[in-house]
Amino acid sequence: MHRIKVRINAKDFEHDVEPRVLLVHYIREKARLTGTHVGCDTGNCGACTVILNGQSVKSCLLLAVQANGAEITTIEGLTRDGLHPIQQAFMDKFAIQCGYCTPGMVMSASALLKVNSAPTVEEIKEAIEGNLCMCTGYQQIVSAIEDAAEKMKG
Ligand code: FES
Ligand code: FES
Repeated sequence: MHRIKVRINAKDFEHDVEPRVLLVHYIREKARLTGTHVGCDTGNCGACTVILNGQSVKSCLLLAVQANGAEITTIEGLTRDGLHPIQQAFMDKFAIQCGYCTPGMVMSASALLKVNSAPTVEEIKEAIEGNLCMCTGYQQIVSAIEDAAEKMKG
């Protein structure tokens, strides 16, 4: 077992974990933040995307011990007060069907909009290229991120 400390959504967590435990399972099972989804567990779907030290990462591709000392934001930490503008835009633009991909998509969009407040369609597509959606197609998702960028500028 290894003792790790992480800060998730501005709250400190400290646990003993086995070295084989993936970060996504740590987040869901130890920190009990189940908004981060597990799709493939192999780095292909992006459902597990979180922001770690300012970068969007697939949390199934990291071991929990590798995140020791990190600052992590999950979908639950995006806002403390109602829906985040990106979440609202996903609803307004019908960018959600089953919702399985949505937390990961929103986190990738959030990482993009933090560094680029007016992304082009190409930049949006690039930012979500690691996130798969089996339901909506991508048009509504891209449109939701454009809408969120517009509203967040204002
Ligand atoms: Fe991590 Fe699919 S669960 S990429
Ligand atoms: Fe179902 Fe994207 S809304 S996978």
